[in-house]
Amino acid sequence: MSAFGIYIHWPFCLSKCPYCDFNSHVAESIDQAAWRKALLRELDTGASQTPGRTVTSIFFGGGTPSLMDPATTAALIERVGRNWRVADDVEITLEANPGTVDAERFADIRAAGVNRLSMGLQSLDDAQLTFLGRRHDAAQGVKAVELARRIFPRISFDLIYARPGQGLEQWRRELEAAIAMAADHLSLYQLTIEPGTAFHPMAARGAFVMPDDDHAAALFELTQEVTEAAGLPAYEISNHAAPGAECRHNLLYWRGDDFLGIGPGAHGRLTDEAGVTRAHRRHRAPEIWRNRVEQQGEGTEESVALAREERALELVMMGLRLTEGLSATGFRQRAGQELTSALRPEGLREMLDQYFLNWNNEFLQTTPKGRLLLNSILQELFPR
Ligand SMILES: C[S@@+](CC[C@H](N)C(=O)[O-])C[C@H]1O[C@@H](n2cnc3c(N)ncnc32)[C@H](O)[C@@H]1O
Ligand code: SF4
Repeated sequence: MSAFGIYIHWPFCLSKCPYCDFNSHVAESIDQAAWRKALLRELDTGASQTPGRTVTSIFFGGGTPSLMDPATTAALIERVGRNWRVADDVEITLEANPGTVDAERFADIRAAGVNRLSMGLQSLDDAQLTFLGRRHDAAQGVKAVELARRIFPRISFDLIYARPGQGLEQWRRELEAAIAMAADHLSLYQLTIEPGTAFHPMAARGAFVMPDDDHAAALFELTQEVTEAAGLPAYEISNHAAPGAECRHNLLYWRGDDFLGIGPGAHGRLTDEAGVTRAHRRHRAPEIWRNRVEQQGEGTEESVALAREERALELVMMGLRLTEGLSATGFRQRAGQELTSALRPEGLREMLDQYFLNWNNEFLQTTPKGRLLLNSILQELFPR
């Protein structure tokens, strides 16, 4: 049975973090009943377009879905069960901000059916949390993790590293402290400065200085070393887990399986019986999305069939992020062509010779040296 996931986007946050370019909005008030109705309606429309599928994962992302009324979370999970067959071991993840949760809210989210919680901790240092514009301090973060561990069968949390002025030893200590309180999954992201965020003009005028490439690479190497030693190796560039504890929903993106996207700005990929994959994208603006759902049953901004080359590029781009690499068999099934015929032969040979890629006739993998150079590798593999 192939994996099939449902992504549900909750677009609201209590405040906007200065680094974040996710589709998140600060709203004065949220009409929870209207939002519940709209999300359920788009879910129903999606169900009518995907008959016969079995749902293997649901992911509530954001924004801050821990701000969603848990009754809405429950209603959406219940509706998935009515619309599709659901795998016995379905993984249901919800992203939570430690500043928006307490024991009661966690218990309600768990009772709604969520069995995996992913929390945005970002740092274990109060000064850094202030710099990152977070509403919670380190103690609240630690408390939220302890609480979540008691309530949810599976938990993970996010940290942001490669921050301005961050030294190797400082990061090692913070990471070791994080590992000591982690369960079996961690997401460790290098800070990136995105256009349109509050950090963008600040970085441009020198209000802070980002680590240079060499230092960022040293921080990345250190991250691999410390997590591996602790039994939480990377299974994807920024995601670490004990074997078997990988996030199945995110694996589905990287392996190129189908998923339905619900809510403002959500993306999805659905493959038809002829093997054609269509990409859909919902309107990003919360109110426009909601109006469209009311009028048309879905807030779709775009739905396009992916050309063979586009699909191939996407599968390679995603698959090479994984430590396991890209499966040639999986590629053949999903792209309808041989992996070797989709890649530029000279580029592939060059990347193998330079030991940026490894190829064992089934998996094409980046080597540790290649993992930091993914964009350059892709340029070599695909005809320009
Ligand atoms: C949707 S948020 C997680 C849940 C919740 N909104 C929160 O922030 O607590 C997704 C994660 O992406 C990461 N992230 C977002 N923007 C980033 C950036 N510019 N650089 C590095 N990590 C980033 C953060 O670690 C964040 O926790
Ligand atoms: S990092 Fe999380 S809480 Fe902060 S603005 Fe982005 S989605 Fe919202």
